Amino acid sequence: MTDVVVVVGAGLIGQAIARRVGAGRHVVLADLSEANAEAAAETFRDAGFEVSTVVTDVSSRESVQALVAHATGRGRVVSLVHAAGVSPSQAAPETILRVDLFGTALVLESFGEVIESGGAGVVIASQSGHRLPALTPEEDRLLATTPTEELLALPMLAPEQVTDPLHAYQLSKRANVLRVMAEAVRWGERGARVNAMSPGIVITPLARDELSGPRGAGYRRMLELSPAGRAGTPDEIGALGAFLLGTEGAFVSGSDFLIDGGVTASWFYGPLAPEAHG
Ligand SMILES: NC(=O)c1ccc[n+]([C@@H]2O[C@H](COP(=O)([O-])OP(=O)(O)OC[C@H]3O[C@@H](n4cnc5c(N)ncnc54)[C@H](O)[C@@H]3O)[C@@H](O)[C@H]2O)c1
Repeated sequence: MTDVVVVVGAGLIGQAIARRVGAGRHVVLADLSEANAEAAAETFRDAGFEVSTVVTDVSSRESVQALVAHATGRGRVVSLVHAAGVSPSQAAPETILRVDLFGTALVLESFGEVIESGGAGVVIASQSGHRLPALTPEEDRLLATTPTEELLALPMLAPEQVTDPLHAYQLSKRANVLRVMAEAVRWGERGARVNAMSPGIVITPLARDELSGPRGAGYRRMLELSPAGRAGTPDEIGALGAFLLGTEGAFVSGSDFLIDGGVTASWFYGPLAPEAHG
């Protein structure tokens, strides 16, 4: 039976990971944008991959269930790459919570029911979640374990509590990491693993919207004052994703990997630290 790699969010990060793990397998490219999914599919087909596309909205249970049915209909789901999302310059707080926080929980729950033994998943969180101050242990627990359908009703996520898109994004990405920890236990019962990655600024259409958006100057400063002194490329995220999905990563589950060229280090202990701003 065919092994299937499911890529939710067929953007540049999702594609970079899929290119490394998709050979000899069936690659399902799912995206809200049919144009994005089809463009990715053409590139993949031209490079010899076997692919199919599905229009999927991760914020809809029905839509995610249809994706699960499509993927399981193609074969054994051995890898999940969850790289769909919207950034603070692209959407309002409510949409960010619905897509990035709820949508990720829904994808983890749904694929956690069908992932094969020996399979693995990666979720793209963000360095942004690492800059959010610590939540209380109770808030962490709620974000990690509240049933998916009840998540958006949590008082800590109420519209009057989350009014700023960047705050919504940071909370969502923190929640992704917590959710991955809790799901790693459930996925482990099936003999599967799941991890998160928290990239820094990686040049993609999403990052370009950030760099040219209202927070652009701050992001450009971050790049200049970071140890790496530059933005990342999707392929650098792809390399870590392939490690986590492959046999080399077999002992890693429920973890989060910050991959940001040192921006977060500088934010806390270097020239990007708020106290260094004067
Ligand atoms: N690029 C960066 O600098 C960066 C940094 C940290 C984290 N991330 C995260 O990486 C992930 C992938 O982003 P990218 O940089 O590859 O951007 P991208 O714009 O190349 O890809 C994102 C894809 O998600 C899709 N999408 C948006 N809403 C969706 C929905 N409701 N259902 C299904 N698909 C949807 C978009 O159509 C797009 O194709 C996102 O979660 C983003 O938050 C990106």
